Amino acid sequence: MSQTFRWQRTHTCGDLRPGNTGEQVILTGWVQSTRDHGGVIFVDLRDRWGRTQVVFHPEDAALIEQAKRLNMESVIGIRGRVVERPPEMVNPQIETGRVEVVADRLEVLNRARPLPFVIKDPPEALEETRFKYRYLDLRRPAMQRNLLLRHRAAQVVRRYFDENEFLEIETPVLMKSTPEGARDYLVPSRIHPGKFYALPQSPQTYKQLLMVSGFDRYFQIVKCFRDEDLRADRQPEFTQIDVEMSFVDEEAVFTVMEGLMSRLFRETLNREIILPFPRISYDEAMLKYGLDRPDLRFGLEIQDLGDLVPGCGFEVFEQVIRSGGAVRGFRLPGAGTFSRKQVDDLTAFVRNFGPKGLIAVQFQPDGVKSPVSKFVAAGWMERLRSRFGVETGDAVLIVASDKKGVCDALGNLRNKLAADFGLIDRSRMAPLWVTEFPLLDWDSGENRWVAMHHPFTAPRPEDIPLLETDPGKARARAYDLVLNGSEIAGGSIRIHQSGMQSTLFRLLGIDAETARRKFGHLIEALDYGAPPHGGIAFGFDRLVTILAGESSIREVIAFPKTTSAISLMDGCPSEVEPAQLAELGLKWITS
Ligand code: AMO
Ligand code: AMP
Repeated sequence: MSQTFRWQRTHTCGDLRPGNTGEQVILTGWVQSTRDHGGVIFVDLRDRWGRTQVVFHPEDAALIEQAKRLNMESVIGIRGRVVERPPEMVNPQIETGRVEVVADRLEVLNRARPLPFVIKDPPEALEETRFKYRYLDLRRPAMQRNLLLRHRAAQVVRRYFDENEFLEIETPVLMKSTPEGARDYLVPSRIHPGKFYALPQSPQTYKQLLMVSGFDRYFQIVKCFRDEDLRADRQPEFTQIDVEMSFVDEEAVFTVMEGLMSRLFRETLNREIILPFPRISYDEAMLKYGLDRPDLRFGLEIQDLGDLVPGCGFEVFEQVIRSGGAVRGFRLPGAGTFSRKQVDDLTAFVRNFGPKGLIAVQFQPDGVKSPVSKFVAAGWMERLRSRFGVETGDAVLIVASDKKGVCDALGNLRNKLAADFGLIDRSRMAPLWVTEFPLLDWDSGENRWVAMHHPFTAPRPEDIPLLETDPGKARARAYDLVLNGSEIAGGSIRIHQSGMQSTLFRLLGIDAETARRKFGHLIEALDYGAPPHGGIAFGFDRLVTILAGESSIREVIAFPKTTSAISLMDGCPSEVEPAQLAELGLKWITS
């Protein structure tokens, strides 16, 4: 084949239709598969646009010899003529399925070695293998669709904020390490030995400073870095849609964000979502769903049974209530017939979250079965039945423990049972705002208050007196956006006065000197004309995961890390040359 032929494609592998019949075309792409049908060779040629069938007839001996040697995933160019397929040969699975290209010229542009796995959906390879050869895994149409969706979503975000007069402003990736939040990734300074930059956990302080500068409405699609223990929905580096606005209250932030969500669903999925989103306070969410990110796509609402306990006769319950704990439960339809083993498994699950056990009260046709029946009066079971609207065949699952344990256990049990028994309506989108978070959270390990959201979050004005008397009860002007049980965004109205900011640092056990050293520039800025401001940040990866209908954020990130923060493809983190360490004034001390 002449080296001078220009393999400039005339069409993509997704373009050709019966209307192109008779045209001479040039296609380039990857060999998805080859089939030899009695001397006629069919090649499926693939690119990001689709697949086209290419036919090599045996008349041209040199060409057919070449075609026979094609192997999977090689990159080729072909020239040929488009023909319409006879009706019985039409492939309705692919968009180009009514035509094929009869080739008269073929060139292998890059011959592929046998691949570590076959490029197909769903993938058969182990996740580790897919990650090691991520560039091959990304050839799968499902991954190409996910990254296309991610791109579309990012463009919608930019258009939306631009139309609404937000400015996209970049903030530093090398910044100062601060003591709050997750663990920082540190970058040693060569020019200043012994000093470090930190990678931003979020652009939080910068976006607030931009408000002090008067930019008014800021957004950024930005990488954030957190050295924390990873879970399925966490990555060490992830992307936020970061937003800040001046002269706003919660309502203004909600309206702008609901507008964004509505546009995103419409322009990426052609789907309408109902506005405004429902709202629930943190307290109510914890009571009814046990978690601060309730999944509303199913019922199983939790009820408090505290009022039924005094005098009930079951000492475990009575004791828990006397000591300030909670007794709560929910009704699980159909669980009246659960076996002993099923109940034991659920009990073991609940114990992972702290409580000592689970009481299953099973309402069976021939009576009520439960470990507490022998302790409580018959009338008590009737009260339980009417509290939950129980029907025969149902069970009520009850946990008694400290409040946190009960919430954790029931919240997670609720999600698990809904998943196990197919109670989740997957066609639904269930967004909601969770509001009125506590300002502070007690860290029993460190024996001090920590900020539930972050230390720049404003307390609710009516709760400011509580900061001196009962700080744990003070509520914050903080909010999360939850979608289908996933926390996809979080934000707050900020403190915009240095006095209140200092009060907060003091409550958090950050003394004035440390506060000045770590956040001096921000505290100072608050004294030079800081407007009231607030904002929010979306977890872009999580949002796209839900739009794509995937269950892991790794499926919408081009080059993700494993749950142990490793990139299997390039092998980072990796050792560095001793000279590199020396230059940074660092020495590796093995313990
Ligand atoms: P927050 O810490 O709640 O708020 O983060 C905002 C959103 O980012 C997503 N997210 C993550 N996604 C993937 N991997 C992670 N490790 C990860 N951590 C967080 C979540 C979360 O809701 N500066 C504040 C926002 C503000 O107050 O405006 C902030 O970063 O979806
Ligand atoms: P025990 O007396 O420990 O054998 O427990 C009797 C039943 O009560 C078992 O079904 C336990 O799972 C359950 N149980 C014990 N402690 C609790 C608790 N704190 N909350 C709910 N159920 C419990």
